[in-house]
Amino acid sequence: MGLDMAYVFLLGLPLVGWLLWWWNEIWFVTAIKAKCSSMNIKMFPVTWDFLSLGKCSHFYGTLKYCVVLIHKYGENVGAYRNYMYGSPRILVCSPSLSKLILNLPDKFKQAWPTIEALGSNSLMSLKGTHHDRVKSLLMNAINHPHALACIVVHVQPTIVHALQSWAQKGKIIALDELKKVTLLNMGRYFASLDFGPQLHSIEHMLFAITQGFRAQPAKIPGSAYRYAVKCRTKFKSIMRVELEKRKQQNENAKEAKDLMDQLMQMKDEGGKNLTDEEVLDNIVSSIHVGNISTAYLSTWALYFVAKDPNVLHKLREENMELAKEKKDLFITCEDVLKLKYTNKIRPRVGTYYAFGGGWKSCPGNMLVRLQRVILLHHLLIGYKWEVLNPDVKVRYLSHPLPADGLQLLVSEI
Ligand code: HEM
Repeated sequence: MGLDMAYVFLLGLPLVGWLLWWWNEIWFVTAIKAKCSSMNIKMFPVTWDFLSLGKCSHFYGTLKYCVVLIHKYGENVGAYRNYMYGSPRILVCSPSLSKLILNLPDKFKQAWPTIEALGSNSLMSLKGTHHDRVKSLLMNAINHPHALACIVVHVQPTIVHALQSWAQKGKIIALDELKKVTLLNMGRYFASLDFGPQLHSIEHMLFAITQGFRAQPAKIPGSAYRYAVKCRTKFKSIMRVELEKRKQQNENAKEAKDLMDQLMQMKDEGGKNLTDEEVLDNIVSSIHVGNISTAYLSTWALYFVAKDPNVLHKLREENMELAKEKKDLFITCEDVLKLKYTNKIRPRVGTYYAFGGGWKSCPGNMLVRLQRVILLHHLLIGYKWEVLNPDVKVRYLSHPLPADGLQLLVSEI
């Protein structure tokens, strides 16, 4: 009997080991292949390479690793098998495979960034019908043509005012200035807030959230992750004061004036409102994500446009022409659509899914594109700008950005 058990153990152990080693491929890759048999999925076992890179954060480490792998194995490899972040993983780098995976929500679940960092009731953490309901509301509030028309009107005075102040200052750090402008716009549009003297500390909180929400989820005192979660809680408590004020004023009876009102008034199929926590988590996420994504995208737009005189010339021509036609300084949604060349300033189409896909696709994609076009329009018709460090290095943490925050010299034309 003892000998039998020893045989079972000796034969069984390698089998269990084999199963564990290949589990990701058996479970996940088979699912992908079953859905898309025509796709050429090549798997490379590159187990130790990742460790040699030294990982600073989940996001940066993975990004850098993808670039290294593509250089090493060529662009046609769809997926890599590896041991990363403490467990076996399959890393997908190709746009077509990413799209497929984003459309298999039952098979591939989100595990990172953590729910704690995103807010347990935020759209980014939700699933199933709850996710769909909150998403459709958010899409209506920020992606519907009527909402976009309101946003166009709403954001321009702040942008125009900011550009005037840039020219007065002369030398600016574009990233810092853009973060301020977009925070003012997001705060007003999503929660009718003028942050006033609080603006600086809120900026700091949002920065800390950005630095830590994709970092290793270590709760060690002093870690970026722990500080991000702390700042999120603090920012949420500021939003809670606004929410309580509205509840006291019985705002629910009135027409919704912003995203916070809309979320407060929303009812589910059973006629129940969203809870305070649900409203707050989604407001916090929208202001945070909306702020950083718009500011970062605009920073790169200013950098690349300034570096290419031909593109700059074509853009200025198109925008000057529109400005001449207009009696008013402010443009409309229809005007934005007329700016065909300006609308093309974006990453190479088809290279990756910048706004995600499938059920997780980004509800803010139009909002961010509109803001970029509006910023470029007002800048191009009234100002010139020069990049002071054209060969500036890129820093990758927490997102790829010019290391100096993009120093510009701005003046009126
Ligand atoms: C440059 C600008 C932006 C980029 C590149 C971007 C990118 C993305 C990507 C890739 C996803 C999918 C994430 C995933 O699969 O887990 C996503 C989701 C999301 N984005 Fe954006 N985004 C941008 C702007 C915005 C803005 C302005 C807002 C809101 C105000 C926003 C709100 C969201 C939300 C709430 C989700 C979660 C969607 C869901 O879970 O269904 N984003 N975004």
